[in-house]
Amino acid sequence: MKLFDVYPLLDVEPVKASGCWLWDKNGNKYLDMYGGHAVISIGHTHPHYVKLIDAQLEKIGFYSNSVRIPLQEELAQKLGELSGYGDFNLFLCNSGAEANENALKLASFHNGRKKIISFSKAFHGRTSLAVAATDNASIVAPVNETENILFLPFNDETALEQAMNESICAVIIEGMQGVGGVHVPTDSFLQKAKLLCEKQNAALILDEVQSGYGRSGKFFAHQHSNIKPDIITTAKGMGNGFPIGGMLISPKFKAKHHLLGTTFGGNHLACAAAIAVLDVIKNEKLMMNAKAIGDYMIAVLKKITGVKEVRGRGLMIGVELEFPCDQLRNELIFTHKIFTGSSSNKNTLRLLPPLTLSKEEAEIFLHAFAAVMKKSLVK
Ligand SMILES: Cc1ncc(COP(=O)(O)O)c(C=O)c1O
Repeated sequence: MKLFDVYPLLDVEPVKASGCWLWDKNGNKYLDMYGGHAVISIGHTHPHYVKLIDAQLEKIGFYSNSVRIPLQEELAQKLGELSGYGDFNLFLCNSGAEANENALKLASFHNGRKKIISFSKAFHGRTSLAVAATDNASIVAPVNETENILFLPFNDETALEQAMNESICAVIIEGMQGVGGVHVPTDSFLQKAKLLCEKQNAALILDEVQSGYGRSGKFFAHQHSNIKPDIITTAKGMGNGFPIGGMLISPKFKAKHHLLGTTFGGNHLACAAAIAVLDVIKNEKLMMNAKAIGDYMIAVLKKITGVKEVRGRGLMIGVELEFPCDQLRNELIFTHKIFTGSSSNKNTLRLLPPLTLSKEEAEIFLHAFAAVMKKSLVK
């Protein structure tokens, strides 16, 4: 059997990783400024993470959600404490798309409505309603097409105000748009969305799958804007590579047996991984580090010739160039041995390194980036 060929691949085969570094099968060492797509939050193979998963595997790896799993409660307690959402409830699942799918479903169960507002350049995953709420027609299959999603221009308060009415079930917004090229919602846009949702009894869903878990310098990116959504979705950094997703749910939503469910969500191993992540974010003050290193990098990047715009917060940074960045990314990976990310905007490079990135590691990237930019501009 062959693999279903849906991923364009880089010709690199990592076999080992530690902290912000990867090694390929030929022994080449790479700096990870991509974090496996914002997934590596606490650094590769962190010793506390390895220890907790190892120890858990020795005891019990999985049992279904038909039994008590106290690790789920420990995870909810620690997540509530670190995120400041101790009064919310937690539903565990396995991925970002699944978290968003459940969030939209829960909102609809709650208010009995069908219409969802999403925004230009949004990405919410590849399952049925999540992909329908994603602004990329090429990944929406005919069966996913629905009249229930309304796309509005991002950060446009007037358009949102005009579109909101009593038929709207939910508004879904990324804490910071990732795939779209790192676009930050303005404080007043998020505050307006909160106000309008409250007025119309619609659910405000913040998709923090990519921007959450400390990446922005606060636990969730929307916390920079002083709003409290009704549902927050999370995945990626939550398990540092172990598949886990979650939904933080306001107490106004009432749970009912069998309302939602999943076989694998909240299994013992996933919980052990997610608990280790929270322990490390807290003990190593990774939110502070993300802010400090991110602020530094953004300031330096803004001064580099050929950079059109730098967007983002903490260690979620979009660097928009005056030209497409594919050649530059190739040069960074093959000459300088540095992984970076792309985005749907061809001119925007995405940086999503582990939150443990040190100033010295940031400098390695910045020097290489400046050198490659200089070369690109001379050509
Ligand atoms: C903001 C956002 N939401 C949802 C998803 C989907 O997550 P997953 O790939 O885990 O289903 C992604 C993935 O890139 C994302 O960036």
